[in-house]
Amino acid sequence: MRRNIVHIGAGELTYAIREIVEQAGRLEALGVTMSWENIGDPVQKGERIPDWIKDIVADLVRDDASYAYCPTRGEPATREFLATRVNTRGGAQIGPNDILFFNGLGDAVSKALGFLRREARVIGPSPAYSTHSSAEGAHAGDGPLTYTLDPDQGWQPDLDEIRQKVRYNPSIAGILLINPDNPTGVVYSRSTLEGVVEIARQFDLFVMCDEVYINITYNGAPAVHLSDVIGDVCGLSLKGISKEVPWPGSRCGWVEFYNQDADPIFARFAKSLVDAKMLEVCSTTLPQRAIPRIMGDARYAAHLARRAAEFKHRAAEACAVLSGVPGITVNEPQGAFYLTVLFDRGALTQSMSLPIPDGRVQRVVEEFTAAPAEADFRFVYYLMGATGIVVVPLSSFCCERHGFRITLLECDDERRQGIFKTLARVIPEYQASGAAAPVLQVGGN
Ligand SMILES: Cc1ncc(COP(=O)(O)O)c(C=O)c1O
Repeated sequence: MRRNIVHIGAGELTYAIREIVEQAGRLEALGVTMSWENIGDPVQKGERIPDWIKDIVADLVRDDASYAYCPTRGEPATREFLATRVNTRGGAQIGPNDILFFNGLGDAVSKALGFLRREARVIGPSPAYSTHSSAEGAHAGDGPLTYTLDPDQGWQPDLDEIRQKVRYNPSIAGILLINPDNPTGVVYSRSTLEGVVEIARQFDLFVMCDEVYINITYNGAPAVHLSDVIGDVCGLSLKGISKEVPWPGSRCGWVEFYNQDADPIFARFAKSLVDAKMLEVCSTTLPQRAIPRIMGDARYAAHLARRAAEFKHRAAEACAVLSGVPGITVNEPQGAFYLTVLFDRGALTQSMSLPIPDGRVQRVVEEFTAAPAEADFRFVYYLMGATGIVVVPLSSFCCERHGFRITLLECDDERRQGIFKTLARVIPEYQASGAAAPVLQVGGN
């Protein structure tokens, strides 16, 4: 090439959650029966959509207007409906023009972080859902900036750490939260959220909060929205229907901007996202039209409560099986539908393995593990080859610790319990297989 055409941030674009599918696919082709516990798609894992929701969608399918473009910001009636929901909670007050629809929240994340000025950084959690950390790193052309979610404090962040990092890094313009969190399942208390907003106020930053799981909380965890605590600070909340309806294939999510009037730079940034969406015309029409009818239905609250109770049950079930296993830590999730299993520091070595009876499968796993990688990737590959269970290495969630994320989505009780029990059996077996050798750490942050 006459010029280097590769974007400065190209190296930051990694998404192990799906990359691992290709490798698992090779093992599946050799006859391994896979249990796909890597992707957060409830529908793919067998959840049935209630008939009353399907009836709403079917009704809209018969309406020609559902096949048309919609306004760039999104369906006006839907934005009005969503703004009213925010306003009735009594915190930040917004109008329909403070809402902007996207083709799924993934689209919102990459636009919101991608259209920041190159040198303006957003500090985010570690571990972090990699769409955020990758998009932020790619926009800056550098590794992500992170604060730690502490496994010894139930994955809560340390506000002092955030404050210190913000204080000494003037490039930081915003703080990212994921609440409830993917991959840890932590739900932030009101005081933690207020503390983050206070730091933002002190240093003149904005707060960005991914609330795609905000209606999936349990174990008494509070569902405090950013809009409840943002006060007069600039903020944006990212919401969607992929996880709570659940309708991930709708590719429908939205951003709510709070206090655009408080800062002309923040207002200009918000406008740049509308302008960018205008170049694409608009986002998906049909799911936007369905939102007021689904969320405004008298059955919706019971639907959400039933799902939350189910995930609470599965989270407790997983922790009961895994919490006694040596060499790992599990914190019972309070929201979303993931569990992070954390290996003790130094617990994994590059000489550990699991027995794989089929020689062809064994050879492919050895091929996967031949390249230098974090030690939890090795565990994940052996787990895949020996048991067919597909999980995601924790180090791929912008995290220097080793572990893995598993979903709580398997609907078949026997199968799900079998998966947790298999993990409880093979984790000690894997660790016992290797003599202590130095852990190979690459990347990290
Ligand atoms: C925290 C978080 N944000 C955003 C998304 C993307 O959601 P969507 O399906 O709306 O693109 C996900 C998907 O797993 C997620 O876990």
